[in-house]
Amino acid sequence: MASTRSVTRSMTLYTKAEKLIPGRTQLISRRSSMFADGINPVYAERAKGARFTDVDGNEYIDWVNAVGAVVLGHADDVVDNAVKKQIDQGSIYTLNSPLEVELAEELVSTIPSAQMVRYTKAGGEACAVAARVARGTTGRDIILFCGYHGWHDWYQSANYLVDPDSGEFPFAGIEPIGVPRVLAGTAIPFSYGNVDMLEDLLKKYDGQVAAVMMEPVRSELPSPGYLENVKALAHRHGALLVFDEVSCGWRLRIGGVQTYTGVTPDMTVIAKAMSNGYPMGAVVGSVEAMEPAGRMFISSSYWSDNIGLAAAITTIRELKRRDSERRFEEIGEKLRRALDGALKNAGLSGACKGLYVNPYVSIDLPDPKLSAKVSTLFIQEMAKRGIHTYMAFKATLAHIDEDIRVTAKAAEEAFSIIKTGLESGTVDRFLECEVKREPFRRQVR
Ligand SMILES: Cc1ncc(COP(=O)(O)O)c(C=O)c1O
Repeated sequence: MASTRSVTRSMTLYTKAEKLIPGRTQLISRRSSMFADGINPVYAERAKGARFTDVDGNEYIDWVNAVGAVVLGHADDVVDNAVKKQIDQGSIYTLNSPLEVELAEELVSTIPSAQMVRYTKAGGEACAVAARVARGTTGRDIILFCGYHGWHDWYQSANYLVDPDSGEFPFAGIEPIGVPRVLAGTAIPFSYGNVDMLEDLLKKYDGQVAAVMMEPVRSELPSPGYLENVKALAHRHGALLVFDEVSCGWRLRIGGVQTYTGVTPDMTVIAKAMSNGYPMGAVVGSVEAMEPAGRMFISSSYWSDNIGLAAAITTIRELKRRDSERRFEEIGEKLRRALDGALKNAGLSGACKGLYVNPYVSIDLPDPKLSAKVSTLFIQEMAKRGIHTYMAFKATLAHIDEDIRVTAKAAEEAFSIIKTGLESGTVDRFLECEVKREPFRRQVR
């Protein structure tokens, strides 16, 4: 049953934030409008394992997990103890820390295509480093990309290539305000799965393409041969292949999706789950692709702070020690079965789809235009029952069977409400908030 959960304190803070913080949050995905606005909590006070407590004292099972950054579970004791120990020794030194070399060795022995490593603190930043290195190494300017790669100018400039309101990729609805117009045409999107489109672009810009950068996988595996074809095409045209594994890395395979598919890139961008939520990112790659970076101006004070390094070393070793690949499959498949069961019990037509590391609920709709309303209703009803989620679910190793059971029970009740709404044409009547907004659409499902 839905309980009466007040999020008054959250909303008061959110109102205050409007005056103090442009855009109100630092990450677009943390805006209240991305969830059921006014129903989901916006501010949390503490988090442990698979759950967090919001500032109004409500507890939630968390299926967002800091947009995937938390992989072992919130406030993991082993990682946190390693970090606390490091804080006592110094969170950052004047000199370099030996941890920098230790993590590089760990990454090189874990990720198939890694021979050299550069660090950052975030995923988008690491993508910008990869773009710089690719351009510097090849002496070319254009990056062909597919997927989400952060907020930096090199990437956001692609929005000048289309009318933002047209509904076309890459970021329909977001204007590239503040991004230099002169960059238009230096980063060009291609559609996932469309080899012909990529080939046409590589031919059109022959001799100018530095890199093909893409998310190799999100929720669905590529069709057989697709990534092999992309790699062959990129190399035939003298471009480097860069995999952005910021979101898809670590859960499916500790060495990344490339360990799963066997297709290795020249460079890989990693971040998020590599350090269980402590800021850390990296670009890893072949000596050939990365060694020229030593002559490029790529430098920042906090990229080698000791906290991120200690957290990343410990997280990667814990993923290995805790048999994470098998566990994620187990948790993901159990969740999928439980959500499929909930759909069936509610008599709602749909299925839990996607890879077990990022399963998502897909509901069969009489009209695709209802999609945003129905997902908002689902998120709203789940929040009212103490489950913080999108339509897609990202587990941690801390999620246990009871979390799945409680989630499926809540989902069944949410699905019943959606079914009634759809059958009687009254979805709006059940919505207690604005329809959630999708400020950008990812190109990779
Ligand atoms: C594939 C991918 N690349 C880059 C980024 C940007 O990472 P960050 O938000 O840490 O800058 C994200 C974030 O969602 C991502 O999913």
